[in-house]
Amino acid sequence: MIVKDKAFKMFIDEEQLAQGIEKLANQINKDYEGKEPIFLAILNGSFMFAADLYRLTNLKSTISFLKLASYESMNSTGEVKQLVGLQDDLNGREVIIIEDIVDTGNTLEHIMKLLKEEGVKSAEIASLLYKPEAYKKDMPIKYAAFEIPNKFVVGYGLDYDGYGRNLPAVYQLAE
Ligand code: XMP
Ligand code: MG
Repeated sequence: MIVKDKAFKMFIDEEQLAQGIEKLANQINKDYEGKEPIFLAILNGSFMFAADLYRLTNLKSTISFLKLASYESMNSTGEVKQLVGLQDDLNGREVIIIEDIVDTGNTLEHIMKLLKEEGVKSAEIASLLYKPEAYKKDMPIKYAAFEIPNKFVVGYGLDYDGYGRNLPAVYQLAE
């Protein structure tokens, strides 16, 4: 499968994605029973995962969006840019961050700092994918549907230079 100009191979198929996401949603429903969390989906990459995860939650909750960018093509720039900021008051709230992937952890660190400044009561991360070998921080990743090797992936919202987000499954760069 070619995305833009590179070859990718099937990595996590639609059925596996659905199972992993359902498991995560069940865990969140259980852990937050009786609470009123606010989900914070990080755009662009998490839009598809956020839609699928959020519809499986059964909590009294709301969802908000934050648009950040740190990746250029296939590399992390190390700098996190905020493209659309927070609109909701998160003071005293229990926040569940929805991310497509935790790689180096730079983005997550940026979000955590921002949430602390907002005075949140708690913040946890729910990420579709997590690359433990690339992770450089020490915040625990509470919810991750799949731990994956340190190779570039696209599909299901994740992009290579903007392409591949529409793929219904996750594909890995073929070498
Ligand atoms: P950091 O390094 O800050 O990265 O944890 C998080 C953000 O970088 C993007 N990212 C990827 N995007 N395939 C992608 O399409 C990848 O393998 C990949 N690794 C990181 C992503 O936007 C994520 O939120
Ligand atoms: Mg991206």
